[in-house]
Amino acid sequence: MTSNTPQPATFKPSGPLGGKISVPGDKSISHRALILSALAVGKSRITGLLEGEDVLATADALRSMGAKIEKKDDVWTVHGVGVGGLMQPANAIELGNSGTSTRLLMGLIASHPISATFTGDASLSKRPMGRVIEPLSQMGADIAARETADQKSCLPLTVRGICPAIPIEYRLPVASAQVKSAILLAGLNTPGITRIIEPVMTRDHSETMLKGFGADISVETDADGSRIISLTGEAELQPQKIKVPGDPSSAAFLVVAALIVPGSDIIIENVGINPTRAGLFEVLQNMGGDISFKKKRVVGGEPVADLHVKHSQLSGIDVPADIAPSMIDEFPILFVAAAVANGETTTRGLHELRVKESDRLSQMAKGLSDLGVELTEKDDGLVIQGSGGKLLSGGRAKPVIETALDHRIAMSFAIAGLMTKSGLSIDDIWPVETSFPGFDDLVKSLTDS
Ligand code: S3P
Repeated sequence: MTSNTPQPATFKPSGPLGGKISVPGDKSISHRALILSALAVGKSRITGLLEGEDVLATADALRSMGAKIEKKDDVWTVHGVGVGGLMQPANAIELGNSGTSTRLLMGLIASHPISATFTGDASLSKRPMGRVIEPLSQMGADIAARETADQKSCLPLTVRGICPAIPIEYRLPVASAQVKSAILLAGLNTPGITRIIEPVMTRDHSETMLKGFGADISVETDADGSRIISLTGEAELQPQKIKVPGDPSSAAFLVVAALIVPGSDIIIENVGINPTRAGLFEVLQNMGGDISFKKKRVVGGEPVADLHVKHSQLSGIDVPADIAPSMIDEFPILFVAAAVANGETTTRGLHELRVKESDRLSQMAKGLSDLGVELTEKDDGLVIQGSGGKLLSGGRAKPVIETALDHRIAMSFAIAGLMTKSGLSIDDIWPVETSFPGFDDLVKSLTDS
């Protein structure tokens, strides 16, 4: 799954971007579509599924637990085993780079009478799993993880599920849709009410899709504004037809490219604009970005639109910390936009960025500094002085940017390359396959038009 040989790539300054394109399916929704379909009784059909390595890892894992998953033409068919029906996998489950696969599948297995060992690549093996182990252990699962020198619980780990598990009420200590979803998935095969209190709202695809599959799930808001999500198990899920919208986190790279390269004018069709995911678009509009949402509609419970984006001279802003959960994956590319904006952009409240596929604050700070960008790396954010134009003004010839097995770092610098004086190279483009197969060709098709 993981390529052992790094694939360096070079990105040259570009002329205007133009044309009408679409981006691959939403990664978060694709994982959930496969998992819930595998738990329904009968045959679900999925179109628009992201065929990136992360999602394919989830599909393989579900196959190893008894689900039949096939693709014919553009349709993925999943024959589910029913809630409670997962089988013991024969071998360890290799999840490559995918934190979402790992955390969601840990929840799934926690309330089934099976056990599974998870392994991953060097990036995934560094990521903290204690945040999922804690609530799943309260539900009765037995999870043994590797402990690191700085006391983190990491992969490889083994989950021994329990059936019946104990329903819990759990207040999320970190704003994490993966933790929320792991508990909900465990709750599906747990008799009684599993309740999650979410003080800060995160992406709500699991709640929406669970409702669509017929689970007994409700969401209320308490007096202090926290969301209370209650799921009654054991659930019976009905098979569905699911259309996965284009991923706003992938569209983000092309939106920023069109905003920053002079003369650009593009349309990106069929992009998910769920408000729990659309923070970047709002921030870019506040920076002066010309982004308009055309043909707004709802597909499978998710809001979708076509995005029309035109080049705009951006101005730096102070990005409020409370918008962070709705654009948590988009900060690397926002930092690129900030680097070419006029004036200062301040970001804060971003501790979570340090435990993504890489430490995204430090990787972005290093790479942008190499391109001559003046910035300060704080504990919880970056403060960036925009160049107001081209990058590489520091004058270092063609630096090789380190991407640390992180797809979003690789794509962010690919886009930054379009605005350099003489191009830049990154050490490894391969991780882009995890979320955005065809990224390089799509950028080329826009710049060649
Ligand atoms: C995701 C949730 C987010 C996000 C990740 C996908 C999901 O992670 O960064 O790319 O699909 O639930 P956290 O739950 O760690 O915030």
